Amino acid sequence: MTTTSTDTENIIAAEAHGADVAVASEIAPDDELTILDISDPDFMATANERYKALREKGRVSKVKFSAGQTDEEKNLREDFFSRETFFVTHFDDVVETLLDDRFSVDLAAALTPEQREKMAEGLTPEQREKMAREEENFRPLSRSLLSIDPPDHTRIRKLVQPTFTGRGMEAMRESIQETVDRLLDQAEQEAAERGETPGNRRMELLRQFALPFPVTVISDMLGIPREDRDQIRGWTENLLRVDRVRDEAMNESVQAGLRDFTAYLKELFERKRQNPRDDMISRMVQAEEDDDVLEEEEILATVFLMYLAGHVTTVNLVGNGVVALLTHPEQLASLRADPGLAKNVVEETLRYWGPVDFIGRRIAREEMEVAGTDIAKGDQVTVSLASANRDPDRFANPEAFDITRADANRHVAFGKGIHVCLGAPLARIEGQVAFETLIRRYPELRLAAPEDEIEWSGNFLRGFKQVPLLF
Ligand code: HEM
Repeated sequence: MTTTSTDTENIIAAEAHGADVAVASEIAPDDELTILDISDPDFMATANERYKALREKGRVSKVKFSAGQTDEEKNLREDFFSRETFFVTHFDDVVETLLDDRFSVDLAAALTPEQREKMAEGLTPEQREKMAREEENFRPLSRSLLSIDPPDHTRIRKLVQPTFTGRGMEAMRESIQETVDRLLDQAEQEAAERGETPGNRRMELLRQFALPFPVTVISDMLGIPREDRDQIRGWTENLLRVDRVRDEAMNESVQAGLRDFTAYLKELFERKRQNPRDDMISRMVQAEEDDDVLEEEEILATVFLMYLAGHVTTVNLVGNGVVALLTHPEQLASLRADPGLAKNVVEETLRYWGPVDFIGRRIAREEMEVAGTDIAKGDQVTVSLASANRDPDRFANPEAFDITRADANRHVAFGKGIHVCLGAPLARIEGQVAFETLIRRYPELRLAAPEDEIEWSGNFLRGFKQVPLLF
């Protein structure tokens, strides 16, 4: 995988783009390779059964991800990332792996010389040159918190962390509520213009609500001036497209978009240096000025990461939670009876249908043992958060969606250890406000299509394609 495609919202899920291995997804017998084919339209719908089978088979399975690509060059370049990975499925082992500091997340640094050699093998000089050019353009994406090790990781995380304290985030609750209400007002207005009446109004939850919601919240948190929002909308969409872009022409236009966004941000940093406010960008540029501990490129990387890591994940938390509630009427009734349960709806949604099924970026820095399996230096381990969250040794009756579950918040949907999700307090508040408000405002909220027509998207973040509602 190239830096282009790695360092996007999807990298938090896994380095899971594989080569063109068109093998049906089945559980292989002991010691054989299991193919997880993410391009299979049924992958997400059947993934939990497959994780269960792997969990029952043993603590670690050898897995190879496939994304069904065909492009030869891409296969060459992604060869390293599509090699076998050790797939960890049990709750305790997942936690232990994520806490183990013998793993690196810095792919370039973790490669052995032989692996580096192997990766470059077969590339023409033109291909190498193109890769180098792309790497230059995408460096702020490839050097984000998610893909750097201590001490750089520790230094940058320490500077960004204060923004995300529970208290700091609680202060955002009011503006989050305003954003939720504004988007729902807009959906009501559009329905009224179509002549629809309360109870029978239509809304596509993702497009009209869940998608624009986190972009606005992140922009507020960063301190992007309101009057610039229309201007940056195209750029943030472009940023989110980076990973999906495959063909050359688009790639050029995406790169041009990134350059424009970068130029805008650098100019905004200057404005914030002159006139700091109480926002995240001001705090970062201040740290850059005062102690010389943060470089401008690192600030850029962090801003990009906020949109990449905080956007689609939150969209899916909202979408997955609403579908889970509307397809479990007894749970919906409990929430209506006690809106205070909205907090636990967030936790149970994250456990049951968390947006990130697995994390793939863990490279062994040394020869070691993982959950009883020997692995070599440079081997890649993938932890399945989704499997851990349904491990019957950790959660009673794990296949049930139960918003009154007392230990729902023990899930690992935000990861663990030094890379544990920085935005978790924000995501939790966003989810709570969204669920509580939707239920309060719309007593007749229901799906506008049969449950089996609500499809998972073919991405390896867990989320639906569309969520049509009546409200
Ligand atoms: C439901 C929503 C979310 C989920 C499920 C989620 C999940 C995760 C996971 C699993 C990781 C760990 C990745 C790893 O260990 O390699 C992570 C890291 C991260 N997340 Fe989230 N995330 C969510 C929302 C957010 C939001 C709203 C933000 C910020 C606006 C955010 C920012 C980050 C950052 C900066 C990291 C990297 C931390 C580090 O490497 O030190 N996330 N997230």
